[in-house]
Amino acid sequence: MLNKKIEDILNRQVEREGYSSLLYLSMASWAESSGYPGIAQWLYAQSNEELEHMLKFIHYINDRGGKAVIPGLDTPPSDWESVQALFEAVLKHEQFVTASINEIVTACIEENDHTTNNWVQWFVTEQIEEESSVQEILDKLALVGQHNMYMFDRDIMNMRSSGGSSEGE
Ligand code: FEO
Repeated sequence: MLNKKIEDILNRQVEREGYSSLLYLSMASWAESSGYPGIAQWLYAQSNEELEHMLKFIHYINDRGGKAVIPGLDTPPSDWESVQALFEAVLKHEQFVTASINEIVTACIEENDHTTNNWVQWFVTEQIEEESSVQEILDKLALVGQHNMYMFDRDIMNMRSSGGSSEGE
């Protein structure tokens, strides 16, 4: 049987996982409408994963004699300046979720709830993966940026060489 403090903090996480799902859904929709079908696909999948996380918390609370509360969720942002800004927002959000999961672990230790502590360790590991996969995307984006600069540089170079008629004027 869950004690009230653990039940409450797990219900807080139901809300946070639900918001994560909504946030990534909004990002997916933005990417889709901005002409980035690959990024949209990644974000739609991520949104589904967050929904699964929310369900895991709901089932766990109910299975342990608590009562899961289905929350109303805040409206997520709907616009991002760039793909880079979007993925930076994903990383920041995942760091927030990691801190939130760590708070659950701390509460479990304080309340001597070894069962929930053991159960929530799956999320501790999951957060390492989530943060590192977003960091990997940001690293790739940094390279894409350099590549674009390279292309831009070549473009300017071509303009100058084909516009060589100005030479000697
Ligand atoms: Fe369920 Fe990405 O944290």
